[in-house]
Amino acid sequence: MWQRYDEDRHRYVKGMFAAIAARYDLLNSVLSLRMHHRWRRVAARLTAVEPGDCALDLCAGTGDLSIELARHTGPNGQVFAVDFCEPMLQIGREKARPEGAARVHWLLGDAHSLPFTDACFDAVTIAFGMRNLIDKPRALREAWRVLKPGGRFVCLELNRPRHPLMRPFYDFYSLRLLPRIGKLLSQEDAYLYLPNSIQSYIERDTLLGLMSEAGFERTRYQDLSLGVVCIHTGVKSCLS
Ligand SMILES: C[S@@+](CC[C@H](N)C(=O)[O-])C[C@H]1O[C@@H](n2cnc3c(N)ncnc32)[C@H](O)[C@@H]1O
Repeated sequence: MWQRYDEDRHRYVKGMFAAIAARYDLLNSVLSLRMHHRWRRVAARLTAVEPGDCALDLCAGTGDLSIELARHTGPNGQVFAVDFCEPMLQIGREKARPEGAARVHWLLGDAHSLPFTDACFDAVTIAFGMRNLIDKPRALREAWRVLKPGGRFVCLELNRPRHPLMRPFYDFYSLRLLPRIGKLLSQEDAYLYLPNSIQSYIERDTLLGLMSEAGFERTRYQDLSLGVVCIHTGVKSCLS
């Protein structure tokens, strides 16, 4: 259905995140048992950004990874947080203020068509956003285009664990418990979408293949927390 009605899906995803924006951070902490902070810290470290660098966080939402990146890039660095859902960005802006992360620039934009010139970022990240993207090859080509030669791409995403003993537990949690807890806390049906989007998400090796096709080199992935999340990384060749 989604392949035929991409515009509908685009609108649906945007509307869904707008509806849950105010509760998104709470839901994240409850549903991940607060593990999402550690996952983001690992992802930020894998970008290898340094003080003074410029990073782009795609599908930034309420900006936890953007703010974490800003800690690495320091007062002389910059982080651009891009998302197509204004209510999610608004929460991020408010959250960043007391943290003093004024170095994060919050921009409304679509990951499929970025408003940046070629080769301007030292790192591009995307956390829990890849599974929402309608045209993943196109978004990956955009990420590659805006990276500087030598820059790193890091994708953090929920996944189905591969271990056969873990899968039944995980499926019970994500298909039965998670939508109920989500609905209870957010009063929205949005968390019916989440398990479906994880179950139908592409295989780890398929994403590696798409990254290579987009131009990335040294592509690899690592599972965290028994494979509940996976981090894919790739580098834009210095010769590009
Ligand atoms: C699950 S949230 C993740 C937010 C944040 N990165 C985090 O780690 O919590 C997914 C975000 O992707 C955004 N998104 C989905 N499709 C997008 C697109 N095509 N362009 C930009 N943002 C998009 C949604 O608005 C939402 O804020």
